Amino acid sequence: MVPSLTPYGLTCELLEEPLGLGEPRPRLSWRTASGARGEAPAAYRLRVAARPEDLDDPARLLWDTDLVEPPETPYVHYDGPPLQSGTRYHWRVSLWDAAGAPSGEATSWFETGLLHADDWSAAWIGPDPTLVAVADPPRDDDRTERTRPLAPCPLLRRAFRVEGEVVRARVYVSARGLYELSVNGRRVGDHELAPGWTDYHERVPYQAHDVTELLREGDNVIGATLADGWWSGYVGFDARRQALHYGTAPQFLAQLVVDHADGSRRVVATDGAWRAGQGPLVYSDLLMGERHDARLAATGWDAPGFDDRGWAPAAVLDRDLSALTASADRPVRVVAELPAVSVTPRGDGRHIADLGQNMVGRVRLTLRGLPRGAAVRLRHAEMLDDGELYLDNLRTAEATDHYVAAGEPVEVFEPRFTLHGFRYVEVSGVPGPLRAEDVTGVVLMSDTPATGEFHCSDPMVTQLQANIVWGQRGNFVAVPTDCPQRDERLGWLADAQVFLPTAARNADVAAFFARWMRDVVGAQDAGGAFPDVAPKICVTTEGAPAWGDAGVIIPWQLYRLYGDVRVLERSYDAMAAWVEHVRRHNPDLIWRERVGKHYGDWLQIGVETPRDVLATAYFARSAQLTAQAAAVLGRKDDAAALAELHRSIREAFVEAFVGPDGRVAGGTQTAYLLALAFDLLPGHLVPAAAAHLAADVEARGRHLTTGFLGVSLLCPVLTEHGHADLAYALLHQEDFPSWCYSIRHGATTIWERWDGWTEEGGFQSANMNSFNHYALGSVGDWLYGRVAGIDQDSGSVAYRRLLLRPTVGGRLSWARAHQETPYGRVACGWRLEDGHVTVEVSVPPGATAVLHVPTRDAAAVREGGLPVEAAEGVRVAGEWRGVLAVELASGDYAFTAPL
Ligand code: BGC
Repeated sequence: MVPSLTPYGLTCELLEEPLGLGEPRPRLSWRTASGARGEAPAAYRLRVAARPEDLDDPARLLWDTDLVEPPETPYVHYDGPPLQSGTRYHWRVSLWDAAGAPSGEATSWFETGLLHADDWSAAWIGPDPTLVAVADPPRDDDRTERTRPLAPCPLLRRAFRVEGEVVRARVYVSARGLYELSVNGRRVGDHELAPGWTDYHERVPYQAHDVTELLREGDNVIGATLADGWWSGYVGFDARRQALHYGTAPQFLAQLVVDHADGSRRVVATDGAWRAGQGPLVYSDLLMGERHDARLAATGWDAPGFDDRGWAPAAVLDRDLSALTASADRPVRVVAELPAVSVTPRGDGRHIADLGQNMVGRVRLTLRGLPRGAAVRLRHAEMLDDGELYLDNLRTAEATDHYVAAGEPVEVFEPRFTLHGFRYVEVSGVPGPLRAEDVTGVVLMSDTPATGEFHCSDPMVTQLQANIVWGQRGNFVAVPTDCPQRDERLGWLADAQVFLPTAARNADVAAFFARWMRDVVGAQDAGGAFPDVAPKICVTTEGAPAWGDAGVIIPWQLYRLYGDVRVLERSYDAMAAWVEHVRRHNPDLIWRERVGKHYGDWLQIGVETPRDVLATAYFARSAQLTAQAAAVLGRKDDAAALAELHRSIREAFVEAFVGPDGRVAGGTQTAYLLALAFDLLPGHLVPAAAAHLAADVEARGRHLTTGFLGVSLLCPVLTEHGHADLAYALLHQEDFPSWCYSIRHGATTIWERWDGWTEEGGFQSANMNSFNHYALGSVGDWLYGRVAGIDQDSGSVAYRRLLLRPTVGGRLSWARAHQETPYGRVACGWRLEDGHVTVEVSVPPGATAVLHVPTRDAAAVREGGLPVEAAEGVRVAGEWRGVLAVELASGDYAFTAPL
């Protein structure tokens, strides 16, 4: 018999088959699929062994849980013998069904990194700083004044011999700066912009790669190209301040461990025996761009046989490895390629190529027949202004790449250590014609696998979802950034907290955010203030309301959405310290003091939500969530004290800001949204407040006024309080300001501001006018959660108790979404046909659901053609206002109901 319960999507410490794991007690997890209704795993068993074949041999198991009941959260902590450094472990999960019969199983592996300080012999090396000539080449555009020269990208190489058969080789590698590694002329791995961006003062991540296949007997060479990256390049908007955030020049660290068939081991680590030279990269900078002079190529430099006598010995720059940490999230990778959709000649040897999509990454350009020394320049822009690039919004980011041809018949230029946000690229210096197929957009992103999709009948809403996904792609690059194009690209906290619920629908962002939270927690000051951005650079203010609060909200959301208790444990003290920081400075519990740089409801439109209302609402929210976190972690006293604090803040809020008629001070949509969403109002005032909110939306001709914070609550709160019609009206609104207004004007990403470009005013101030900011795209959570209908009940974690509430409305004739949750695949969708609605849902094994079937006649609802009472796995739970509520066991269901 084919086993019906099938584990899949196995992860270790939130990652699939991690190589170079640093956690001593990693968590193992899996999702489950089943072909049968009502089936749930009754028990599981985990086995861990050194070799896959040992998993079948009880005598050789390293760890065996034997049969256990399914865990409370979808993670099982490894609890076997201590893990050894640099060791691969194979594991298997086996499931048993309710009848006690063995069902499906699946295997996976994880491999540890170097777990102990004394495993390392490598040192940080680089070119000898006294020998490096730094010359800024002449610049041909004068939009900005660079305050620091850009230095050539160094090459480092080390020749070594391999004697005897190699059974296994790993390289553990990092840079202060960026590295690209090669062995014998072949690139190692596919990580981009490695090792990523963290607060390098505290943590520098290293990666591990399997290079067994790249080595050969005899002469071998390991090589690295370095670039400044976030370490020593331009970051944020400090270009004019000559600020160096971490270091002055890139450094490299690698340790190659080669195991031979005879049991011997050879280690090649970075030290003074490496040699340093220069190649074709005259400079490369994340903000400024890259200059590649192909005439300077050091052909064969990373393979045996290259004459490196002209190179200098590398210098050992530092032996302090205390910040070295195993990578805990997914690397940046090339995730897509976009061929240009058109190329328009613009005269004087210029062409503008359109990639058809505002994207983040770089261009791969094929050049044909250019003479040696011919210079090609690429400039990047998100928008066109009168047919030419709109560059002003880049501020001091030059985002310009240069290539100098070697004179080959065909040359391909693709920058390696820079990144631009753009849809249009202007190519100068190619006499032409330039063919569209010679221009490709290469899309980079932290490789967070897609987990969800939302689809519906309306093309504008479909485009909105695409814009949200592209905003996520473009701004989830090593850290969650505000925008990818101008001299900013910082990990702004509020942007991240409002968007996380949407992001987690579209992709698996559990590891990405958990890793970033370490920089948020690490940046908390001694008084308990979280920062506004993490890693903390450029912006040194204390966390503002809603920005600092992200330090509480994000761990809580990761717990709720993914069941990640570890991120709560690791953040809890910081969360509590933040709440205490706000309380200490605001003893009357109205948050007026120590608000950092108060951004209010950032980029709200035409209104001003009072800042004390907003701040106090967030204070209450943080107290409430921290109380809940304390309860989850078993800190009973904290939980009680924080819950009491939350009650008091709530009272103070009502006293200070809420009228007897349910009006909230300021009267803005966001003021009502905060009060309702954060549960700040006494029950009897809730309907009135919701009515005031609805009235404001109506009075403005069904337009919104919300900024970054309010917008995430707008459609959810309206829907929750009986105004789904208004939520849909806002969704479909095409006049300014609205999501569809930008789409009507060609947006392929979410704009920073509602009025980034308007018919009346043209472009907003170039000072702050990004066309790729995800914050206003936080409506995506509602598309999945209420339009299609996938949600979980308020006490549920990791979507274990689903709340499926498809909401028929607006111009839509159908909508559907599916999502991989920690337990398995959830789907929910509806379509209208002949006065009926069909609702189709999938509930994964181990989860249960309450489904609200919209209908005017509950008695006529059918599932699979049967009356609901007769349908397997279905139990009627209640009936009210046009809804039949049913409880579902796991499985796939199709309901039809008259509407
Ligand atoms: C950023 C935002 C950020 C804000 C703070 C801007 O410069 O682009 O996304 O949240 O500053 O108000």
